[in-house]
Amino acid sequence: MTSHDQRAERKSIWHDLLERRINRRSLVATGAAAAAVAALPLDLQTAEAAHYNAPMSAPALAQRQAQGSLPFKPIGTSTADDLILPEGFRYDLLAHRGHDMGNGNQFGENADFLAFFPIDMLEKGLDQNRPQFGFTRSDLSSSDGLLLVNHEYINPMFISGYTGSGAKSSDQINAEKHMVGMSVIRVKRNSDGRWYFDQTDAAHNRRIDATTPITLTGPAANIDGGPIAIGSLGNCSGGVTPWGTALSCEENFQDYPNAAPTGYGWEPEIYAKRHYGWVVEVDPFDKNSTPRKHTALGRFRHENVAVRVGGDGTVVAYMGDDKADSCVYKFVAERKLTNLADRPGNMQILESGQLYAADFANGKWILLDYNSQSALQSAKDSKGNLLFTSQADVLADAQAAAMALKATPVDRPEDIEIHPLDGSVYVALTNNTGHGNFHGQIVRLAETDGNPAAMSFDWSIFAVGGSQSGFSSPDNLVFDGEGNLWMVTDISSSRTNKGIYKFQGNNGLFFFRTSGPDAGIAFQFASGPVECELTGPCWSPDGRTLFLSIQHPGEESKSLTELSSHWPIGGNEVPRSGVVAITGFKR
Ligand code: FEO
Ligand code: CA
Ligand code: CA
Ligand code: CA
Repeated sequence: MTSHDQRAERKSIWHDLLERRINRRSLVATGAAAAAVAALPLDLQTAEAAHYNAPMSAPALAQRQAQGSLPFKPIGTSTADDLILPEGFRYDLLAHRGHDMGNGNQFGENADFLAFFPIDMLEKGLDQNRPQFGFTRSDLSSSDGLLLVNHEYINPMFISGYTGSGAKSSDQINAEKHMVGMSVIRVKRNSDGRWYFDQTDAAHNRRIDATTPITLTGPAANIDGGPIAIGSLGNCSGGVTPWGTALSCEENFQDYPNAAPTGYGWEPEIYAKRHYGWVVEVDPFDKNSTPRKHTALGRFRHENVAVRVGGDGTVVAYMGDDKADSCVYKFVAERKLTNLADRPGNMQILESGQLYAADFANGKWILLDYNSQSALQSAKDSKGNLLFTSQADVLADAQAAAMALKATPVDRPEDIEIHPLDGSVYVALTNNTGHGNFHGQIVRLAETDGNPAAMSFDWSIFAVGGSQSGFSSPDNLVFDGEGNLWMVTDISSSRTNKGIYKFQGNNGLFFFRTSGPDAGIAFQFASGPVECELTGPCWSPDGRTLFLSIQHPGEESKSLTELSSHWPIGGNEVPRSGVVAITGFKR
């Protein structure tokens, strides 16, 4: 059986599992009535789903608010071309596409991942027990730091003026190449409380783009002429390490070498190499450092990485492959984290270890190891050729390896975060419209005995998208200090405000309690401009500033004179993706 056949055979497994979990909960809650709806396809189970993700009636909601049990007064849905926030909150625009970096470079397009590094972090140290604050200590600066921002992809019309006919000029391609990758920007908070980008910090402000040399590490470092890769592509979400570096994840790398207008039309001799689709580690404090792509963590459409440290110093990283019918992965590093102060040593932790894929049917982690798994040694493609001849091959196509070993393909795993109080692992599954899962779920995975290096786990459903719960298509997640979950949605621009997605208006930011009577109920905190996706939420160490990216506003604009958004400048201006700081949190 080919890898493709195996994937096709197994892709319905997730939906059977999901429906059984849903039915189990509702049968307990509502008995025979739920059994009747249990026969309905997943997307039609809204009445049934409401039993475990019950929306509150307006009076009940008002009562909760009057009791002051929420840290903000929820907003309603919005279709306005602005970032709408609850009363008492404000946003400051830090940077937008094309923003002058103060050094001849420009801030890139479509930021997805943000990570705040307090300027005094290296001097004062980190806290491995505060993953929700990027492992920053609470006494570190919450008014001055480095914001690492990545740039996922470009809309050529806004960058190079290319509108989709014929080949691009080299000037157009060069302009586009500069808009992807990452930025490191110095951000500060004024005495009046406003945040701004300090363009004068030449020692830190930095661009990494599609031309920056990056070193490959690990078992597949020499693949396709490595170990030097040219640039970084498709940077989606990411994560931070307890040793103070950022991890940015290469997701949709496949479009760049394909001819325009379907692809971006960049040089295939460079961008078709298997040098993209990895996790990239960057030291934001050292402008001259060479970023590294860690092949030990596998190559797939990397959405994110969430690092957790076990009691014995074992470092694990949870990752999702954001493609329909793709897997959740766990990397267990070989080298332990024993001394937080040994930054150079700790920067080697992600260079070697074991990669596993999740089997949700049996609650097990499956090891993707060529030498010990005979199924990998014998796996063949549709033409009967061996799929893998080495561990480097396995890592370079981790999804094919996961399928050969019968891991469970799920519905577009996007962000993953670790609950700061109980260590459970929350996974956002955006949607899988091909299987009738239109609104997605958030599932919660608990390792056996709470041990991050465990080889088995249990899982449950935390929240289900749909009109009954008020949100659709969960994507990036971040916890706060009290263990509440903040989630942004990713309804695609072409579907926003239309048909079955109309109930939510524009994409938004939602708040969930994770325990108590309100657990799993979504309260809306923010709504973004037209056709945008909110991405990359992250906190300052004191939890009083939330950094957020406004990605692809006006993405469906037909031309530069027929624009669907003018955010953030307004008037007749072209829309610009940008990054904001939201303040008003009382903690
Ligand atoms: Fe780039 Fe999976 O969102
Ligand atoms: Ca995402
Ligand atoms: Ca996150
Ligand atoms: Ca997404």
